[in-house]
Amino acid sequence: MAAQEKATNTVTTQAPTTPPVELIRLKRDGAALSEDQIRQLISSFQSGELLDSQMAAFAMATCIRGMTLDETYFLTKAMLQSGSQITWASEVPVVDKHSTGGVGDKASLLIAPLLASFGVRVPMISGRGLGITGGTLDKLESIPDFNTNLSLDNLQAIVNATGCVITGATDEIAPADKKLYGLRDVTGTVASIPLITSSILSKKLAESPDALIFDVKCGSGTSMRTLADARELASMLVQICSRFQVRAKAIITDMEQPLGTAIGNAAEVREALLSFAGSGPSDLVHLATTFAFELLTLAGKQVSYAEVADNLTNGYAQNHFEEMVEKQGGKLCHLISPNWTPLIAHSTGFLASVNTGALGALLVRMGGGRQLPNDLINPQVSIAVPKKIGDAIEKGDVIGAISHPSPKPFLTELRGALQLSEAPVAPRPLIMGTVDQSQFEGNS
Ligand code: URA
Repeated sequence: MAAQEKATNTVTTQAPTTPPVELIRLKRDGAALSEDQIRQLISSFQSGELLDSQMAAFAMATCIRGMTLDETYFLTKAMLQSGSQITWASEVPVVDKHSTGGVGDKASLLIAPLLASFGVRVPMISGRGLGITGGTLDKLESIPDFNTNLSLDNLQAIVNATGCVITGATDEIAPADKKLYGLRDVTGTVASIPLITSSILSKKLAESPDALIFDVKCGSGTSMRTLADARELASMLVQICSRFQVRAKAIITDMEQPLGTAIGNAAEVREALLSFAGSGPSDLVHLATTFAFELLTLAGKQVSYAEVADNLTNGYAQNHFEEMVEKQGGKLCHLISPNWTPLIAHSTGFLASVNTGALGALLVRMGGGRQLPNDLINPQVSIAVPKKIGDAIEKGDVIGAISHPSPKPFLTELRGALQLSEAPVAPRPLIMGTVDQSQFEGNS
């Protein structure tokens, strides 16, 4: 009775609602929306009141007009609050790494267990392949029976037991993003920095992390082709994390050549296993070690780069990886091997460039990725590029390989993607820049 009286006497002040079409018009004309307007947009989209066609129009207006930092924060918050957030029972730091997606990027397979080997928790919510870029979940699903569809309870139980998990976003995590992403995918509205930022962070922040690190890829094998675009995305990601009081850093890394030597799901898992055994490609090993070291430092752990490098190959990270695979149902002993047909150099010279975007697209056409959302992936289909830009090549060297039942036409395409020069070529630096929250202190 008392509670009822209280309810009757409470005066709630609700912001007046703006008709959906007016929100679209405002964004079309370049206005900045308020927090209430963005919350209204997302909740009416989630309830079905706002039509898909209206949301698609809003997404297109956002692609063209952009959003302010405030609007991006409001959108991230509304999408995050459309679902659940994990509550952790103890004080052990919760950390995660996110890559904006590249060709041959299997670094998460190394980084999650490597972080766990230092006693932090890593509830890594990952994605599938998108366009020419591979997805961590597709790579892991090349391990027979590996389950990437865990409930939040199950995710937490595995993290508490083994320190790390790699799984997909469930329906409990940012459902508004799931619905909006489906629309963006078919309306040409993926390529928008505020939409990408809010989409990534609504899922990552649902993990209730203490610290996040972003691998923002830059080059022909990813969506951010220029350093200016990559820097803008990196800056937006770390600034929005500051608004949520989450420590964050972004490192911009080169995607003008594949990461490591293998592109293709089972071959990439094999390359991760080789790295645990101390025989990984140096770019992949350096990237994984750098990201784990930087993230542990961000989370307040006193570690050196050398200690992190040690744990990658001394069995500690591998134990966490194998335990995680086992807890997620995977049978590593049944992982298939690629069936390589080599590509031989016709001349002597130096590797000058790799058309990385073309290789990502080739893998998809060979059946190693999806052209349509429900396509089945053949995990054995793979491409190998064992040389790095700047490497010397002798006539007769193996400069590539294809794993496919009918490799011939694909070998020709692979040759076309690798450009040789007679003159020496400088190697490309892997790390192109970093973006720290301290760069924006006092701005937001
Ligand atoms: N990954 C996401 O989760 N969302 C995007 O919009 C792009 C990449």
